[in-house]
Amino acid sequence: MKKTILCIGAGYVGGPTMAVIADQCPDYKVIVVDMNAERIAAWNSDELPIYEPGLDEVVRRARGRNLFFSTDVSSGIKEAGIIFVSVNTPTKTFGDGAGKAANLQYWEKTARDIVEHSGHDKIVVEKSTLPVRTAEAMHRILMANTKGLNFEVISNPEFMAEGTAISDLQNPDRVLIGAMETPTGQKALQEIIDIYSNWVPRERIKTTNVWSSELSKLVSNAMLAQRISSVNSISALCEQTDANIVDVSAAMGADSRIGSKFLRASVGFGGSCFKKDILNLVYLCEFYGLPEVAEYWEQVVKINDYQAKRFVKNIAARMFNTVADKRIAVFGFAFKADTGDTRESPAIAVSHLLLEEHAELAIYDPKALDEAKKDMKDAQGKIEYIDDPYEAVKGAHAIALLTEWKEFTEYDYVKIFELMEKPAFIFDGRNILDHKKLFEIGFNVYPIGQAAMSHLN
Ligand code: UDX
Ligand code: UDX
Repeated sequence: MKKTILCIGAGYVGGPTMAVIADQCPDYKVIVVDMNAERIAAWNSDELPIYEPGLDEVVRRARGRNLFFSTDVSSGIKEAGIIFVSVNTPTKTFGDGAGKAANLQYWEKTARDIVEHSGHDKIVVEKSTLPVRTAEAMHRILMANTKGLNFEVISNPEFMAEGTAISDLQNPDRVLIGAMETPTGQKALQEIIDIYSNWVPRERIKTTNVWSSELSKLVSNAMLAQRISSVNSISALCEQTDANIVDVSAAMGADSRIGSKFLRASVGFGGSCFKKDILNLVYLCEFYGLPEVAEYWEQVVKINDYQAKRFVKNIAARMFNTVADKRIAVFGFAFKADTGDTRESPAIAVSHLLLEEHAELAIYDPKALDEAKKDMKDAQGKIEYIDDPYEAVKGAHAIALLTEWKEFTEYDYVKIFELMEKPAFIFDGRNILDHKKLFEIGFNVYPIGQAAMSHLN
């Protein structure tokens, strides 16, 4: 083996990223460690801890050959020359910056572990999304070692999206690598370029200084989320007028300067990154004395919260101003299709708001039911978790569709209509269903940002 790479943190980012690196670079040994023994056991089993299309095959090809999962953090650190750090950086829940700043305690602990167990110089690569200038702090902690060791800190943010992680990693739009502008920093940079050059065309590997790289990641996520909030804000206006948000998005997106992606109106964006990264950006701007800039970006999160509330208000208003004791089938709990991940899913906020109105929930999701149970464990009210959509709709007054799973478009809605209470309502929070057809079956249909189709007036 040419070199040994270690990754600390075997989560949604670390696991798939390292699996693809091992798959594409058979002459590198790749070790992935995590303090969570259960997670590591799952990575070593046939039931991987995360669901991601294509991941099983990649892991099967590389595992045991040059890809290894372990809980032995210290041996991994000792052995590897290059250490990727992909531990989680949740939003702080306490003290200064609570609710906005990133909680860096795992990051710092990891840096201290690296110092403790290192016997030779290392390159430490930030994979987690972090506040700008974290690398600097990291470098200081690492260099405070008394062993005379040198550590180079590289920023290499991950841009893959869940549900398409493997294809995003195999064929990225760009790989961004930020390094210190010193001779040793540039040498470390080359080592990371060498890894990605195994499968990524050189012109797609972008290099910057460390701060630009860190900031690019935060701003990329903020810009993507901002597009969704912009469209969602206009969806509210469309519902009050005769405009249709799907047509408006298509018309806007046809302008090559705007582009068509991330203009799908929805019940709101979720996922572990968008909200956290925007709040992080907001905190950073406040910290540097830029309140106008902070306020501008904070609005993206506020519109997202507003969109979920608006969705529930609409449900109650349309169902004769009350959902109390009415069964509502929730179609989809994952924050997007093709993942079992529910972190920050709009389904969580919508479910809580519906329960506050005393609705009874029958939650169905093809991959995320276990996570849904954990998310809703403290909720007050009646919730059933059902792994068959046709069971979930039995006796329901309404369906609230919250995730864009393709299978929702393929169901037998004539049968579903028969199983439901009448009048039957569908609230399509993702605009994926055939609304006209549902209306013809007999449903009262309420999409996002489009005219309602109702038999009731
Ligand atoms: C995380 C961050 O949320 C994201 O901001 C960043 O961009 C990448 O890392 P993700 O991989 O989705 O994303 O997080 P998660 O699935 O929670 O995985 C993190 C893993 O690190 C967990 O398995 C956790 O057990 C592990 N960990 C955490 C350690 O091994 N050691 C620690 O000290 C802390
Ligand atoms: C995001 C970024 O896309 C990725 O580059 C980064 O590395 C991590 O954060 P992810 O959160 O996995 O990826 O999924 P993404 O596809 O960006 O979707 C985020 C949320 O926005 C989902 O809830 C999705 O349903 C929603 N969304 C997306 C919309 O509501 N409308 C759209 O047009 C697109």
